[in-house]
Amino acid sequence: MKNMTGWAAALALTAGMSLQAQTNELTVQVKKPGAPIQSTMYGLFFEDINYAADGGLYAELVKNRSFEFPQHLLGWQSFGKVTVLDDGPFERNPHYVRLAYSGHDHKQTGLDNEGFFGIGVQAGEEYRFSVWARVPQGGKGRIRVELIDLASADERQAVASESLEFESAEWKKYQLILKPSKTLERAKLRIFLRDKQTVDLEHVSLFPVDTWNGHENGLRKDLAQALADIKPGVFRFPGGCIVEGTEQPDRYNWKNSVGPVENRPLNLNRWQYTFTHRFYPDYYQSYGLGFYEYFLLSEEIGSEPLPILNCGLVCQYQNNKMEAHVPVCDLDSYIQDALDLIEFANGSADTEWGKLRADMGHPAPFNLKFIGIGNEQWGPEYPERLEPFIKAIRAAYPDIQIVGSSGPNSEGEQFDYLWPEMRRLKADLVDEHFYRPEKWFLAQGARYDNYDRKGPKVFAGEYACHGKGKKWNHFHAALLEAAFMTGLERNADIVHMATYAPLFAHVDGWQWRPDMIWFDNLRSVRTCSYYVQQLYSHYKGTHVLPLTMDKQPVTGAEGQNGLFASAVVDKNTNEIIIKVANTSDRPQPLKLTLAGMKKNATLTSGRCIKFSSPDPDIDNTVDQPNRVVPREAPIEVSGQAVETTLEPQTFAVYILK
Ligand code: AHR
Repeated sequence: MKNMTGWAAALALTAGMSLQAQTNELTVQVKKPGAPIQSTMYGLFFEDINYAADGGLYAELVKNRSFEFPQHLLGWQSFGKVTVLDDGPFERNPHYVRLAYSGHDHKQTGLDNEGFFGIGVQAGEEYRFSVWARVPQGGKGRIRVELIDLASADERQAVASESLEFESAEWKKYQLILKPSKTLERAKLRIFLRDKQTVDLEHVSLFPVDTWNGHENGLRKDLAQALADIKPGVFRFPGGCIVEGTEQPDRYNWKNSVGPVENRPLNLNRWQYTFTHRFYPDYYQSYGLGFYEYFLLSEEIGSEPLPILNCGLVCQYQNNKMEAHVPVCDLDSYIQDALDLIEFANGSADTEWGKLRADMGHPAPFNLKFIGIGNEQWGPEYPERLEPFIKAIRAAYPDIQIVGSSGPNSEGEQFDYLWPEMRRLKADLVDEHFYRPEKWFLAQGARYDNYDRKGPKVFAGEYACHGKGKKWNHFHAALLEAAFMTGLERNADIVHMATYAPLFAHVDGWQWRPDMIWFDNLRSVRTCSYYVQQLYSHYKGTHVLPLTMDKQPVTGAEGQNGLFASAVVDKNTNEIIIKVANTSDRPQPLKLTLAGMKKNATLTSGRCIKFSSPDPDIDNTVDQPNRVVPREAPIEVSGQAVETTLEPQTFAVYILK
């Protein structure tokens, strides 16, 4: 101000002061802890959509490994004398291939597998190739197994190559290890005969040796690790619409997904054809990632398992003809499936289904506490089917909590019809779904403030902000999810579970976006929505704390000054955690006051994690995975309050002690 006249300086000061926004006083009552926050509060929704299972989390690299796709060689390219036969060793997957001498020494017999959008392999890593084989005429047979560089001009250029000898006329499992010399995102697997002896091959498989926790029928490590890193409280599986199917035989049938993988029958995946502009004729469910693997994963990532079962209705969007659904009087086997599933998860090893679990490698129960019946069904046909399930489950397993559904919409006729029905049937939780635009997320912060506290609890089972005209991942959508989630947290007495959806998407094979984690054959990326979920989960605390903004209760209705907030205490660490989303375009001065502290007590430490983006329309990508990540920002604590400024379009978690 050195060169300014006194008048100009005064004017500048006044202008500066009027630009300075008013301080927002957030007052937390630290000595009045309210509802406990359920351990299940923030979790994961898994569905095999976007190649999330086969071609994704399930680490199998061979597509159509059992030759059971309706076109038996889809995904395979054969050369020489290859025939498909159907009297193989696995009753429910009877097809296999016969490789016979072509009649010419210079003409090979064999076949290539293209994998899922290619086969991703890392140089120096080990890959376990396994196959069931026999030499039908007896004696010895030999094959060569190679990983081929698809991009190489010389297709004979193998990056790994080994021989395998078969010595039995009976079916036996053989395996070898391949160690590629080069990293390839899109290799293919080549198998060809090494001499004149005919060989039969079935269940041709290739897995990285280094899977999540080293399991042989295992999961892709980076993807499972991303799940574990959320510290999810609940893991919902296997969907979603695939629970329902378009016809009854296509529904997810958990009993087909357990036992030896070789004998788990193939199922159609309805995401193969749901969107004609993204049609994937090779999208099936191998069930290699089945209910045993889902339970095991839930246990290993510290989540409560939440299986959802078909209630006798197929997907009403796809096929709402009455004859497509199971009549109420014929539901017995479906209800038995639910009871048997509980026995599979929790029964002792001397029960039929508990024994199967034990035989598969897990003698201890999985301690299942929740089961969902029906996905997003609607109309009177849903409650009339749900009712007999509830009766039977309550009679046999009174401690199991049952999740019902309020249909596909976040409000409206079906929603208004189904909630009272769920109350009448005494469902423990109601699964609500909302894929909605920005406006909805901004307006719904107070959604749960006035819910009936006496009825079922809420499971926000599928939700995501779908930007208007921007149905892809970007920071702004994640910010609005964060803002909306303050309302879930403030209402933790009634909201017991929340899971963003969908979870995974392959960059080359998606049907639906946005999604939480994207991947290609070698890499994966955590999106902005992932980080929001992670921040909530890591800092969920143990109890809700009352919170006011400028002496008014924080309601979240349209935000106050564009601000959305919630507060919790973590009684294990004695930390007070305040989450604030500034959805406005201006910096917001904040005063965070901890009311109720002892008179002479002062705050001793404080941290803040901030999440913002230089551009609200961008997100992380597999090529640029760390463009937008939460960062720790310094804050000063003194006395019983913190004075700070929250930047525009920023989500912050303040952790005070
Ligand atoms: O998450 C994608 C789909 O959205 C789910 O399968 C279904 O439940 C919902 O309609």
